Amino acid sequence: MKIIVTGCRGQLGTELIKQLRLGYSELGPIPEKLMHATVIGVDMAELDISCYKAVDDFIRRHKPDVIINCAAFTNVDGCETNKDAAFKVNAIGPRNLAQAAAKTGARLVHVSTDYVFSGRENGGIPQDECEMPGPISAYGTTKLMGERYVQQFCHRHFIVRTAWLYSYYGKNFVKTIVNAGKKYGKLEVVNDQLGNPTNAVDLAHEILQLCVTHEYGLYHCTGNGVCSWYDFASEIIRLSGVEATVAPCTSAEYKSKHPESADRPHWSALDNRMLRCTVGDEVRPWQEALACFFEHWDGDNGMKDE
Ligand SMILES: NC(=O)c1ccc[n+]([C@@H]2O[C@H](COP(=O)([O-])OP(=O)(O)OC[C@H]3O[C@@H](n4cnc5c(N)ncnc54)[C@H](OP(=O)(O)O)[C@@H]3O)[C@@H](O)[C@H]2O)c1
Repeated sequence: MKIIVTGCRGQLGTELIKQLRLGYSELGPIPEKLMHATVIGVDMAELDISCYKAVDDFIRRHKPDVIINCAAFTNVDGCETNKDAAFKVNAIGPRNLAQAAAKTGARLVHVSTDYVFSGRENGGIPQDECEMPGPISAYGTTKLMGERYVQQFCHRHFIVRTAWLYSYYGKNFVKTIVNAGKKYGKLEVVNDQLGNPTNAVDLAHEILQLCVTHEYGLYHCTGNGVCSWYDFASEIIRLSGVEATVAPCTSAEYKSKHPESADRPHWSALDNRMLRCTVGDEVRPWQEALACFFEHWDGDNGMKDE
């Protein structure tokens, strides 16, 4: 078994490579079929996924069984001001990988986002894979195009939408809140956008369970339970032990202070229905996964026991 992980130095890519190399995570062993896999991790420097020829050459040369695409332009506000760059990475990149995967017979796991949804209230019901997307930001729009290209060009695909992702590695909301709490002692966080915090350990675990099956299709994979960014930040501060207060604010108040920021969905909570109905939804409740993160995080860019 040969696996290529693109975007391997990002939050999810780093976690995936680690689980593949160790053969296990906090959640248990990886599937037997992956235990002795040849793992090739590539990031921007080795393979720019937006370049058709580079992707075509690379995939033909290595002939992987599975490609896991973790590469993306993930700066949501940056996508608004750099729409071509966002389109190249988030839409053309997965198109290139899908075409190359189809030609060589590889399976493609492509990671997408809750921001493909508009965020309109629907009575407080988390959105499953049947819901129609309707993105309201350049990030969401380009990620949706990426999904469509994958569906169009590669039959053996798993599109895995996640949300509010954090990891021991790289930049994320959890680390931002801890650092801001230490620096300012007082934070204001939006209370009217609701979603599902997701630990990259859980997402990587589910992706590895899925990618050895033939259960192709569209998946939601997020931490179980719904909260606001304010609830999430309050729990981060509590668990970190940082002396800081967190106050709620509205999206409108935030926008008035940061007019350049992208619009974000108010209701982007996802339901992992497809996982439940196929390989099983083993994603932990978000509070449990966050508590586990704080037990193991080294306070910087890794784990204490690494
Ligand atoms: N982060 C979240 O909260 C979140 C939420 C929902 C969904 N997702 C999705 O989950 C996936 C993983 O996200 P993540 O947080 O792990 O992302 P990340 O930490 O930003 O990592 C993405 C990686 O892709 C690399 N990259 C960018 N452009 C590339 C290109 N043209 N070719 C090859 N590599 C390129 C980046 O390199 P540079 O750092 O040099 O740019 C980075 O190493 C993405 O598909 C993302 O859209 C993330």
